[in-house]
Amino acid sequence: MSALPGSAEGTAVTGLDSSAVEVHEDLPPLTETTRTECREIMARYPVPRSALLPMLHLVQSVQGYVTPEGVALCAQELGLTKAEVGAVATFYTMFKRRPTGRHLVSVCTNTLCAVLGGQRIFDAVAGELGVHHDETTADGSITLEHAECLAACDYAPVVTVDYEFYDQQDVGSALELVAALRRGEKPDPTRGAPLTDFRGISRQLAGFSQHADDAAARAAVDGPSAGVPTLRGVRLAAERGESAPAMPDAEPRPGADAAAPAAVRPDADGGRTPGAAAADTQVAAADNPAERSGAEQNHPDRAEPAGREAADRDAPAPDADGQAQSGSGTSVPREV
Ligand code: FES
Repeated sequence: MSALPGSAEGTAVTGLDSSAVEVHEDLPPLTETTRTECREIMARYPVPRSALLPMLHLVQSVQGYVTPEGVALCAQELGLTKAEVGAVATFYTMFKRRPTGRHLVSVCTNTLCAVLGGQRIFDAVAGELGVHHDETTADGSITLEHAECLAACDYAPVVTVDYEFYDQQDVGSALELVAALRRGEKPDPTRGAPLTDFRGISRQLAGFSQHADDAAARAAVDGPSAGVPTLRGVRLAAERGESAPAMPDAEPRPGADAAAPAAVRPDADGGRTPGAAAADTQVAAADNPAERSGAEQNHPDRAEPAGREAADRDAPAPDADGQAQSGSGTSVPREV
């Protein structure tokens, strides 16, 4: 009997998946080591129940999803009921209710990504893998899900694998990505840390290293994050001499011109912004190729990556009768 029973009625009312958690007999057991690590997590917080989220990530890292056994362990350690733990586990989409594949592929189909082709990417990947939302391929390599905004709209359309970013995807690049994953490869994410797998990243989210030793952990440090699209708004504001109006009750910063914050204002020397000048300094100060490459990648003057196209560019635009036309398709302006 599942600790997290659901019902068809619940699904009908809420539109959410309220199906019962799946129970499998062949899962790795939650051992005393897991229990000890749960207690380590609890010791990090003044109030033990604050540890629930990382504890759920921990049991998920062992068994691949939050099982009734995992719910029971968290409840027992925290002095909560299984219903209380289950209520939390079923609220957050990062906690899975059935076995996951080695990798979790999330395709953003929220507004901005959808406008740029996110739904087309999801449909193509689902068709290629033969699965729907929240289903796992028969070979156990990939669980696919569509996701709400992944907080990377500036890089839309976005796909994540085990929460690592693969930015500015299109149908072709997304299909190449999942093919590589099924071959057992781990393509480098566009930014951030190297790809691991779903259980590994769940362990990391619980606050433990997923790496065998310190050297491996050091080798997997985060890579560059903010890039050209992230900083474009600041850059354009600087070029146009624009600034955000001051907040009504904001205290003026010492020495700051409230009408034009220095952070987005070109300086007097050739229109260089303070951010660009700081990036120049970082590039110049880099004392090894890797550091220089990272600094250059984050430089606001870096050129837009080549090859990005609106995913719908080749879709014929419908005419007034809703029939597809030949010739140029719809296009979505991406430059502001
Ligand atoms: S809408 Fe896709 S990342 Fe925000």
